[in-house]
Order: sequence, then C-alpha cells, then structure tokens
Amino acid sequence: MLENSSEMDEIEQHRRVHALIEPTVLEIIRSLHLPLGSSGLDAGCGIGLPALLLADEVGPTGKVTGLDQSEELIREAEQVVKQADLSDQVVFQRGDVQQLPFEDNTFEWAWSASCVGYAPSIDPWYSVRELARVVNPGGTVALLAFSSEKLLPGYPLLEARLNATASGRAPFVSEGKPEMHFMRALGWFKAARLRNVAAQSFVGDLQAPLKQQTRQALIALFTMRWQNMENELPEELYKVYQKICLPQSPDFIGDHPDYYAFFTFTLFTGYV
Ligand SMILES: C[S@@+](CC[C@H](N)C(=O)[O-])C[C@H]1O[C@@H](n2cnc3c(N)ncnc32)[C@H](O)[C@@H]1O
Repeated sequence: MLENSSEMDEIEQHRRVHALIEPTVLEIIRSLHLPLGSSGLDAGCGIGLPALLLADEVGPTGKVTGLDQSEELIREAEQVVKQADLSDQVVFQRGDVQQLPFEDNTFEWAWSASCVGYAPSIDPWYSVRELARVVNPGGTVALLAFSSEKLLPGYPLLEARLNATASGRAPFVSEGKPEMHFMRALGWFKAARLRNVAAQSFVGDLQAPLKQQTRQALIALFTMRWQNMENELPEELYKVYQKICLPQSPDFIGDHPDYYAFFTFTLFTGYV
C-alpha cells in the first residue's frame, strides 16, 4: 500500500493508460522477435505491466529484469508480477538508466519505453550507450515512445493548442536541443555504434462506442498529456476543452457516437 497519494494517482494513470495501449505495445514487442528463453532488460519499467508482456514473449525459460529509479514504482511492479505469478521470471532493481548497475554483456536485449528520450532529465546519448554496453554482441536495443495522436476529431485548433502547451510539449524535451527530441533517436543509436539502426511507427485506434475501460483510459490520457494548461489557452478554447474533454460534460467527446481517434508509438532499434 502506498502512502503518497500523488504517487498513487500516477500509478492509477499508468494502469488506465496501459489498458488502452496494451494491444499496440504487444504488437511492437512481437515485431522484435525476441528469442525464446532469452534474458532482457526493461529500463524505466514503471509498474511492470510492459515487463509482463516481454516475459510472455520470451517464454517461461526467459527472464526479464525491470529497472526503475522510483522505489515506489518498483514496489508496485513487484506486486503486479506476484499477482501474475511470474516473480521467478521477472525481477526488479532500482537504478538509473544513465548508469546501469549491470556488468557488460549481461543481457541479450534491452528495451526502454517512454523513458529514454521521453523524460527530459535523461541524457539519451549516455543512456543508449549504457543500454548497448549491457547487451551481448548481436543483441537488440529498442527504444519506444508515444509519438503523436489525433484524439479530438473535429477540434484541430484546440488539439494543436493543447499540444503546444508546456505539458503537451514536455515529453519531447521542448526546450532542449532538437537532437534530444525522441524522434531524433537514430542519431543516439548511431553515436552508440549500433548496427542496422531502424525506426518504425505503430498505430493504436479507438472507435465508438468506447468500452468503460477504454473511456477511463482516454480520460487518463487527456490528463497525462495536457496538465495545468488552463492559463496557456485562450478563454474561448478553454471553454471548448471543458465541454469536450471533461468526462462529466454531456458533450464529452469520447461519448460521441462517431468518435474515432488514434495514437502512434515509434520504435527505434539497433543491434550491438
Ligand atoms: C512514463 S513511465 C514509463 C513506464 C513503462 N516503461 C511503460 O512503458 O509503461 C517512465 C518511467 O521511467 C522512469 N525513469 C525516469 N527517469 C529514469 C532514470 N533516469 N532511470 C531509470 N528510470 C527512470 C520513471 O520512474 C517511470 O517509471
């Protein structure tokens, strides 16, 4: 049980959003063709839900080590894995992706989702080099992040303005150098001397009528993407935001019978 309520909110948001993105993340993991029985690292593992998908992919003889800097999230991840009865196969360790607490060539692959290139405090060049260091020659390094979305069909100005707020730009290191933007990850892979460097985007769709779980996930996604933006929107647009993005509004966009939306994830891969 976590005492810190803001941490609990974050965990609940992770859970809800994961329900929405899970099919897309699973498709992406399958595209990696991770060897059965292999051992890999999930760096910035959060509450461990993607680690469960990775464990499923490598099978019962494989192993996944989840690493995160947050003690609270690691504790929650351990519970998640225990409930899935996978505590032998998925283990967790606290640490910094920029200075991994593992020997060279420890793993056969390394994966990091919505962490390197996404959290502004992380140096992506260092981190990709670290991920490559702990992977065996021939193994894969994979970085994944949310790369775009169309969640407000019919309201392009509002969506564009929301995405231009500090929170809307935040995951993409808005004030940093262009080379630090997640979509420039090819450069980090090349600097780490990875081979066959490649990028691919994957799409997740939502279509009305939304199931209750998807509706909740959409609300969590709105909250995660566009926080504290009231003062950055013109008053008129903020009124439109309240009308279509707040779940208690009778005009909540997710309840529209013609609602359709999509988001993309972009995967960068390279071989050590
Ligand atoms: C947006 S969450 C993504 C969690 C998970 N990978 C997923 O896809 O659901 C980002 C995670 O990266 C972790 N993180 C941020 N900076 C980190 C660092 N320097 N080293 C390790 N983990 C870090 C955070 O604690 C958080 O759990």
